[in-house]
Amino acid sequence: MSSIVLFGPPGAGKGTQAERMMQATGLPQVSTGDMLRAAVKADTPTGRAAKAYMDAGKLVPDEVIIDLIKDRIAEDDAAGGVMFDGFPRTVPQAEALESITSVTHVIAIEVPDERIVERICGRYSCSGCGSVFHDTFNPVPSNGCSCGNWAEKRRADDNEETVSSRLDAYHEQTSPLAEWYRGKGIFHPVDGDRAIDEITGDILDALKA
Ligand code: AP5
Repeated sequence: MSSIVLFGPPGAGKGTQAERMMQATGLPQVSTGDMLRAAVKADTPTGRAAKAYMDAGKLVPDEVIIDLIKDRIAEDDAAGGVMFDGFPRTVPQAEALESITSVTHVIAIEVPDERIVERICGRYSCSGCGSVFHDTFNPVPSNGCSCGNWAEKRRADDNEETVSSRLDAYHEQTSPLAEWYRGKGIFHPVDGDRAIDEITGDILDALKA
């Protein structure tokens, strides 16, 4: 089993590109953010442990995340590898991942901080299928989402105050992982400050390397 990691700051476009990469690679997307939001909504013990951290824009403790990933990776559809979106986010998470699956590519979507706030504050998604849109950069078609079950959903943590904490967490706790993966020769930086289609093309090229 071999997996791919989509790495980058909040709002870099990991989820947007994951949707496209699922079609291109056939690998299922494993988003720790989506899994945590589902756990909060269902009021599970994991959701209760995570909620205050998420509301504050802080990272959820490693042990909570690693348990979540171990359970998810044991599911049948993960047998051939997965595409991680938003995981790992700390060196201890990456070390735990090494004992669970082999990672062939870490795709780092690089976007400057000044672009992040406008991306996150304009984000919304389809509650029917989860597709991600943006007020300005990627609006939903005028007749709604192609899934046919269009209803707009916005995230509670998509506000300026929380974005600033999420960026701090990224720079302090997550960005050191870039060096860790660079040392393993599987790190592929991609310029994420461009059109969505161009970035998809670069990621597909990087996956051939
Ligand atoms: P999570 O849900 O993972 O959020 P995030 O990393 O902050 O990333 P986002 O989902 O906000 O952004 P994205 O990169 O997917 O961007 P998107 O494609 O949507 O985590 C939420 C919280 O959960 C964390 O704060 C933490 O508390 C916790 N958590 C999760 N995982 C954890 C872990 N492993 N360890 C500890 N805690 C964890 O795009 C953003 C917007 O930009 C969209 O509107 C999109 O349409 C638009 N857009 C995308 N690409 C472009 C482009 N090229 N040009 C213009 N606009 C674009």
